[in-house]
Amino acid sequence: CDIPITIHKVTGSTNEDAKALAVAGAVHGTMVLAEEQTQGRGRLGRSFYSPKSSGVYMSVVLRPNLAITDAVLITTAASVAVARAVEEVSDQTPEIKWVNDVFVQKKKICGILTEAVSGFESGVVECVVVGIGINVVDPGFPDEIKQVAGSLFGQRPDFSRNRLAALVANHLLELSAALPDRSFLDEYRKRSMLLGKPIRFLENNVWCDAVAVDVDNSGGLVIETAAGRRTLSSGEVSVRPR
Ligand code: BTN
Repeated sequence: CDIPITIHKVTGSTNEDAKALAVAGAVHGTMVLAEEQTQGRGRLGRSFYSPKSSGVYMSVVLRPNLAITDAVLITTAASVAVARAVEEVSDQTPEIKWVNDVFVQKKKICGILTEAVSGFESGVVECVVVGIGINVVDPGFPDEIKQVAGSLFGQRPDFSRNRLAALVANHLLELSAALPDRSFLDEYRKRSMLLGKPIRFLENNVWCDAVAVDVDNSGGLVIETAAGRRTLSSGEVSVRPR
């Protein structure tokens, strides 16, 4: 079927563009891509460094019709879609750091920002925008992010970012058709960077030690602490390996 795709040379944020299209009635799968973003946005109010010709900056309108309690599945599925696509175009084995950052060689190469558009009041996720930013070649990261941020390739002028974007989109649309059955969660767990490992999580401004033992069917991270087993919900806590 025909899916509308908008490609900008430069835009503020593809998520903002896609949200505007979604509000105007854009169909499931509608996509916005940009060569460069001037106001690229990340989670928790952060910005996302999106310099010209260095990455894939894309946003996809999804109309998943999913119970709100399952909303986190969208974002976890998006990270699986990126991991699959990255694996197909490189010889890397990407890892997913809960909840949805994709790492290669211990550096974050992809961030995902999923934003609600409509339906949440009714208890059903009618429409969301999934924004995906993949650092493909090394743009020379600013000092404040270069400890964490990496790129899929150092330099690869011959590499087709369009192909990578198309693979991500195809995987995401395929996965989004089967979210409620959660079958992709096993793949998500296998690709996890944290499971079975010692981690730290931030609680009341203090970093606490734990071991990550599972991701439950709601996308929560099950951890073992000195005080016992508990589950962290996505979006509420920062977690890092130790
Ligand atoms: C994060 O790591 O905090 C999430 C980053 C999400 C970045 C992507 S790039 C395409 C889309 N447009 C945006 O403004 N943000 C997302």
